[in-house]
Amino acid sequence: VRVVVLASGTGSLLQSLIAAAVDDYPARIVAVGVDRDCAAAGHAEDAGIPAYRVGLRDHPDRAAWDRALTKATDAHQPDLIVSAGFMKILGPEFLDRFGGRIINTHPALLPSFPGAHAVADALAYGVKITGSTVHLVDSGVDTGPVLAQEPVPVLESDDEASLHERIKTVERRLLAEVLAAVATRGVISDGRKAVIPK
Ligand code: GRF
Repeated sequence: VRVVVLASGTGSLLQSLIAAAVDDYPARIVAVGVDRDCAAAGHAEDAGIPAYRVGLRDHPDRAAWDRALTKATDAHQPDLIVSAGFMKILGPEFLDRFGGRIINTHPALLPSFPGAHAVADALAYGVKITGSTVHLVDSGVDTGPVLAQEPVPVLESDDEASLHERIKTVERRLLAEVLAAVATRGVISDGRKAVIPK
């Protein structure tokens, strides 16, 4: 199964997927797409995986960026897309082309704390448990059908960085497990709920 990973940041989730996707793992990362210069692109190149960059500011508007990202991604003929810390909302053309085949990780237990500040928001709210959600991407912000979730306790001593790092430790394993399961058995979704067949 061919996988394109989208990333924008430090790319530690990408690195863990690169490490997982060897031997008899059922998916191969065939390319990494980024929207800015970031460490994730460097990790791809270090692993010999082609990286491509489609920056929002390099395009006249969001629709043109959406079209360019869709085309550049399509060139690698992915069966599945993984958004591993990709910090842009995917556009309608991208969703049209790859909808139902895009997996995202979110550092909170959705539907609590969607958006780009999930870890800080959970800390500010004072929840005692947060966690990791792996879900299918739809047109909303972190609203797509949930594939897997795992809790992470919030410690009194936590700041955003320490809590995020413990969540990421869970995310790295959960994402690799879910990707393998979807690559092997597919996913059935009615747009609201999703099930990976046994
Ligand atoms: C992860 O927590 C992911 O859920 C969030 O961004 C973070 C990516 O981390 N959307 P990294 O860049 O892979 O280290």
